[in-house]
Amino acid sequence: MTIYDHVLTEGGFVDQNDLRYPFEERGLQFGDGIYEVIRVYNGTSYLIQEHVERLYRSAAAVKINVPFSKEDMYHKMEELLHKNGIDGDAKIYLQITRGSAPRDHVFPLNTNANLYAYVKDLPRPEAFLREGVSAVTQEDVRWDWCYIKSLNLLPNVLAKQAAKEQNCYEAILHKQGEVTECSSSNIYLVKDGSVYTHPAKKNILHGCVRMRVEAFCSEEGVSFIEQAFQVEDIWNADEVFLSSSTSEVMPVIQVDGKQVGNGVPGTVTRTLQKKYEEDAKLSADASLFSSEVAAE
Ligand SMILES: Cc1ncc(COP(=O)(O)O)c(C=O)c1O
Repeated sequence: MTIYDHVLTEGGFVDQNDLRYPFEERGLQFGDGIYEVIRVYNGTSYLIQEHVERLYRSAAAVKINVPFSKEDMYHKMEELLHKNGIDGDAKIYLQITRGSAPRDHVFPLNTNANLYAYVKDLPRPEAFLREGVSAVTQEDVRWDWCYIKSLNLLPNVLAKQAAKEQNCYEAILHKQGEVTECSSSNIYLVKDGSVYTHPAKKNILHGCVRMRVEAFCSEEGVSFIEQAFQVEDIWNADEVFLSSSTSEVMPVIQVDGKQVGNGVPGTVTRTLQKKYEEDAKLSADASLFSSEVAAE
């Protein structure tokens, strides 16, 4: 999958081959940094405002100075897409670390943050969106401040790997049975027409798509209940789905080898998937669901 040449850094745009960091770099050595993944459809970013707001929240929480103003950041993201001539489906990966400095746990003084943002092609996961995916449950062993989109992803990486090794798409994380989120997405359960998900507290990432899912539910008259559920509630759920910038609104049809609901994507999930497509301004031609919904 192509990574496009023009990369934004704290000092301006550079060619990806010219990007060099010393090995005493705090992102590399401590995971001392934050990041965002921003979805791009037809060359246009989706939920850019939400992502930039969250980036600044994460930065403030870990005392990293973002090298650009918020306003500048929007323009730079637009410029990044424009310079690379992006007109298809892609993602922007943006990370900011505390900077380069001799290794020391104590924050270095007078060190500028390192920033890079690049664009990579990313097609929609069409077959999964249509047919649904399977997941495994895993103990959530992360720290308490998961609302910060930190580069420290080792527990997430291990959980996703465990899912992959069982031929599954995602790992559903739980703390002593209480479901928090997934390794790289938020998770929801549908019961009697209502959507349940973990409250947006500090121990989960407040997903940008999650915010939209809440709005979609309100527009459709579906109750969106921020109440944590247990792993065993999954076995009595009508539907389960997850959400993220790369997975969109994704039906989960099997968990730990057991069927969820009827074992096919449910009607609430389908409605939210269609709302997502409309919100992201995906044309009717690009819709994976319009004919299906029209036929209902
Ligand atoms: C742990 C975690 N939760 C939730 C999400 C979903 O966030 P968003 O909807 O902003 O992509 C992500 C996205 O990467 C994530 O890593």
